[in-house]
Amino acid sequence: MEQYAIKGGNPLVGEVEIGGAKNAALGVLAAAIMTDDMNIVDNLPDVRDINVLLQAMESIGVVVQRTDRHTVKINASMISGLVIENEYIKKIRASYYLLGALLGKYKHAEVALPGGCNIGSRKIDLHIKGFKALGATVKIEHGLIIADAKELKGAHIYMDTVSVGATINIMLASALAEGKTVIENAAKEPHVVDVANFLNSMGANIKGAGTDVIRITGVKRLNGSEYSIIPDQIEAGTFMFGAAITRGDVTVKNVIPKHLESTTAKLIEMGCQIEESDDAVRVVASRRPECTHVKTLPYPGFPTDMQPQISVTLALANGTSIVTESIFDNRFKYVDELAKMGSNIKVEGNTAIIEGVDKLTSADLTAPDLRAGAALVLACLTAEGFSTVDDIKYIERGYEDFDVKLRGLGAHIEKVESERELMKFKLKIG
Ligand code: EPZ
Repeated sequence: MEQYAIKGGNPLVGEVEIGGAKNAALGVLAAAIMTDDMNIVDNLPDVRDINVLLQAMESIGVVVQRTDRHTVKINASMISGLVIENEYIKKIRASYYLLGALLGKYKHAEVALPGGCNIGSRKIDLHIKGFKALGATVKIEHGLIIADAKELKGAHIYMDTVSVGATINIMLASALAEGKTVIENAAKEPHVVDVANFLNSMGANIKGAGTDVIRITGVKRLNGSEYSIIPDQIEAGTFMFGAAITRGDVTVKNVIPKHLESTTAKLIEMGCQIEESDDAVRVVASRRPECTHVKTLPYPGFPTDMQPQISVTLALANGTSIVTESIFDNRFKYVDELAKMGSNIKVEGNTAIIEGVDKLTSADLTAPDLRAGAALVLACLTAEGFSTVDDIKYIERGYEDFDVKLRGLGAHIEKVESERELMKFKLKIG
C-alpha cells in the first residue's frame, strides 16, 4: 500500500536538480550492447524503468556494473541469449529497444510483445515495418516478436506516424546494416538525438537526428564509449508546472532550456514569469494561472508527457481552457480522479474542456499512469488539508526521489506504507 501522503497549501519555493532523461537512457542502454567493448553511461536516472531494463540486459548475459547511483559500466561481449522474457517487457515497454539492438548486432532477437502505460493503444507496427524494410523476417508467435535476418541492408523507410520508439529502434537495427538507411518523418525528440549522438560516439554514422529525415550509413563495428545522458525535460517541466499550480517560485537546474521551449511558452501564456540561464529555468507564479488552449504534438510541439501536468494546472485557472491530446487515444484517465477534488473538466473524445475552479479540495487518489500520477501529486500540493496518492509505483517508474525533491521545495509530502505511518505523518505535520 505504498502511497504519498500530502498536506497541501504550501507554494513550492527553491531550486531542484533535474536528473538524466529516462526516455533517452532507455535507448542509450539498449544501444550500449551493440559492441563487445566496455561502455560507461552516466547521469542515468535511478528509476524503475531503467533498473528493469538493466535487469533484462543481465538476463541475456550482459555484465552490468553500477559504479555509482547514476553510472553504469556495460559489457555485452558475453551475451548468451537473444530472448527477452515477458517478465521484463510486461513491466516496461522500452524493453523492445533490445529487439532493435540484438537484431542489429546478431541478426536475431526474440522479445515478448510490449505493454506500457495504459494511455491508449501502444502499437508496434512501425517498428516491425522498419525491421522488415531492412530485410528481417518478423513474426509473432506465442506472444513473442521474433525478428531474424540473414543480412540487414539499408532501406528508405517512411514513418506513417511520428514515433519515438520506432525511430530509435530503426536507428539501432540499421547502425550495423550494409549501406544507407533513410528514416522519413522521423521523431525529433531530444531523446532521439541523444541516442543518435551516443551511437555516433561508438563509431556509428548517423546524420540528421533532430530533423524529420535521419540518414544512417551502416558501419562494420561499434566501439566502447563514455557518455552522459541529457537532462530530463519532462521531469523539469513537471516541477515547472508545480511552481505554476502552487503559485510558487522554482528554479529547475541542470536543464537544457531549449528542450523546454514549448513548456516555457505555455507557462508565460498562463501568466508566469520565466528567467532562463544556460542550464537553469526559473518559474515565478505570483497569481492565479490564466486559461489557455493547448494541443499535444510531437517535438518541438507541446509534449504529450506534459499534458496531465498542464491540465491539472488549468483546472485552477481563470476561465475555460481546452486541451487536445493528439498523440494517444486514452490519456485523460486522471480526470475522474481529479473530479474527486472538485475540478470541473469535461472530456469529449481526445479533448478536455477545463472550467477553472477557485480551489481543489483534498482527497484520496490513485495514480492511473506515470505522468498522470505526478500531475495528481501537484494537484494535492495545492489543496488545503491531507490527501493521498496511491499506486505510486507508476510515478517511481519515471521520477527519482519525487517526494524528496518536492520536500526540498517546501512541500509536506512523505511516502507511507501503512495506515499507522499515515497517522504519524498527520500528527507530525499537524
Ligand atoms: C515514447 O513512447 C515515450 N516512452 C512516451 O513516454 C511518450 O509519451 C511517447 O514516446 C511520445 O513522446 C519512451 O520513450 C519509453 P510513440 P512510444 O511511438 O515510443 C503510435 C513516459 O511518460 N504508434 O512516439 O511508445 C502510438 O500509438 C512515456 O515517459 C503506432 O501507431 O511512443 C502513438 O499514438 C509515456 N505504431 C504515437 O504513435 C507504432 O509502431 C506515438 O507513439 C508505434 C507508435
